[in-house]
Amino acid sequence: MTEQSTAASPTRPRTRKAVIPAAGLGTRFLPATKAMPKEMLPVVDRPAIEYVVAEAVSAGLGDVLMITGRNKRALEDHFDRHPALEQVLEAKGDTKRIDLIRASDLVGDIHYVRQGEALGLGHAVGCARRHVGDEPFAVLLGDDLIGEDEGLLARMIDVQHRLGGSVIALMEVPEDAVSAYGVAAVAPVDGEDDDVVAVTSLVEKPARGDAPSNLAIIGRYVLAPQVFEVLERTAPGRGGEIQLTDALQTLAAGEGEGFGVHAVVFRGRRYDTGDKLGYLQAVVELGVRHPELGGDLREWLKGFAAGL
Ligand code: G1P
Repeated sequence: MTEQSTAASPTRPRTRKAVIPAAGLGTRFLPATKAMPKEMLPVVDRPAIEYVVAEAVSAGLGDVLMITGRNKRALEDHFDRHPALEQVLEAKGDTKRIDLIRASDLVGDIHYVRQGEALGLGHAVGCARRHVGDEPFAVLLGDDLIGEDEGLLARMIDVQHRLGGSVIALMEVPEDAVSAYGVAAVAPVDGEDDDVVAVTSLVEKPARGDAPSNLAIIGRYVLAPQVFEVLERTAPGRGGEIQLTDALQTLAAGEGEGFGVHAVVFRGRRYDTGDKLGYLQAVVELGVRHPELGGDLREWLKGFAAGL
């Protein structure tokens, strides 16, 4: 590790802003996503994106920038007031439902910028440059739901504040799954718990035999602002798209202010709601954990599973 990336800096700014890329077409989830943004698919009783925004806010990131695109108006409507609906509920004295619909517009300070062309995740993150400015920021991919009690993002923010550079989240996946992810080669870091490692190289969606490990990048990042410069210089990679993984590889391989990449190896609950099976698993597990529905769903599931 370079000296600069391990030296604690009392002046290093703390991460305050979250960026949520939400411009994707949701092709893995067609036909459900033909006319509806994939971020709006309900997981139990809330759209998937609400869990992600709530995670950012509970990690202390009250400033959220969504990178949206065509057909994403439902997202802006969801995080806005709905006075007509509130009036109807008020007339009925239904304060419980008023609280539910108000929860999504009280979550934080949400901003939007549009990615005019679908040029890749790296390009989407680059669209946040003006809003983010010169400070570290988090990126949360809307497809990944992380158990809300896991504290992954807060841990990553803490690691970034102590070590500088950028921090990604890694998770062990089966070998036949590596080609769906960015994959990292890592090394231990002296003085850190064993869930914190240094990233020595990264490759986006490698063929099974070419993967440097089975540690896959999952959709949480805390990035140094230097990533913006690097993204501008990053040529289209895998799939002809500008890949965030390729920019992180440049940051991992280079030296200087803002360079260096660490990872938090996550062993908790994560669901890929952009995938049909992952989505169903999220609905079942979060349904069972739901304070009101959980008991009944659990009972029903036991009987249902016994009959399979
Ligand atoms: C993106 C990233 C990939 C990462 C994955 C996590 O891929 O490019 O490196 O492993 O998210 O979900 P996508 O799933 O958008 O194809």
